[in-house]
Amino acid sequence: MRKKIFSGVQPTGNLHLGNYLGAIKNFVKLNNEDQNECVFCVVDLHAITVAQDPKKLKENIYETVATFIASGINPEKSIIFNQSKVSAHSETAWILSCVARMGWLNRMTQFKEKAGKDKEKASIGLYSYPVLMAADILLYDTTHVPVGDDQKQHLELCRDIAQKFNNDFNVGDFFKLPEPLIQKEFSRIMSLRDGTKKMSKSESSDLSRINLTDDKDQIVNKIKKAKTDPLPMPSSLEDLNNRPEAKNLIGIYSSLNDFTLEKTVKEFSEKNFSDFKKILSDVCVEKIEPISNKIKKLLNEKNYIDKILSEGSKKAEDIASKKIKNIKEIVGF
Ligand code: TYM
Repeated sequence: MRKKIFSGVQPTGNLHLGNYLGAIKNFVKLNNEDQNECVFCVVDLHAITVAQDPKKLKENIYETVATFIASGINPEKSIIFNQSKVSAHSETAWILSCVARMGWLNRMTQFKEKAGKDKEKASIGLYSYPVLMAADILLYDTTHVPVGDDQKQHLELCRDIAQKFNNDFNVGDFFKLPEPLIQKEFSRIMSLRDGTKKMSKSESSDLSRINLTDDKDQIVNKIKKAKTDPLPMPSSLEDLNNRPEAKNLIGIYSSLNDFTLEKTVKEFSEKNFSDFKKILSDVCVEKIEPISNKIKKLLNEKNYIDKILSEGSKKAEDIASKKIKNIKEIVGF
């Protein structure tokens, strides 16, 4: 089946193994399937929902594109662009924010987590961020959205907004309802320091994540220091349920190798963690170090990245400008 793929990554620095295994690895796979049309967006408008240093933001945009390419996305085949270059994203977000309901947004758990205790001080952008995400997706008649588990609720909201718009204006299936593509077993990679918390760019301890720009020594050191529990390695899948750190490391190993959890559990059943960690480090280095080296190399070729972004935004603009024209007609502008 011909899939129209759209996904986005925020250029907020520290792209990590969670971003890679939860999302980018899947982008590469979808990019390599001939029949798919893929759009991968560096969502800089989303990034400024929390304060950003403008100079760093610019660097992080380059780094995000470099990460896409270093991971294996082919810019000749997929559209890569940054969101702020195509004005239809902001325009559609405004129109959709008049369709989305406060009650729906109030249920978004990511806002609650990110805003923390002092919601009054969070930006309005942070609150309405999932509406902008819906605009991103719906502008491209997207059929499938590859994301990590943390974005599932935002995709459900996107479908609700699309459906309400179609009903309110009686326009059939003008907005297509997109399906999430979430990796079954490895949709949420957890912190290396606390298996109950998501691996995240914003976590203060760098030891909690493997950055895609880490070198061999950093990767080995982080796996060595990763939290485990005092028991030997689990001997069954059920055994993983109450052992979040073990489950996470086994998940990372399985995902990097394209193994099922079950296969890995069998392979290391009852063994000790230190032996497993050595093997896990080797795999991590084997898979991540080449990406890290390539990112560093590409960051010295900013003209090449500028060219990709400029060609990508032209192609994206072509698609999005047609859709926004129709959206405006539908609402009566
Ligand atoms: P962002 O930038 O936070 O994350 C990018 C992608 O990485 C996934 N991810 C993870 N997956 C597994 N384990 C983790 N620990 C982990 N951390 C992050 C995220 O699920 C995501 O797929 N709102 C989005 C960006 C966005 C978008 C879109 C995505 C904007 N518009 C349209 C899809 C479609 C975000 O902030 O992702």
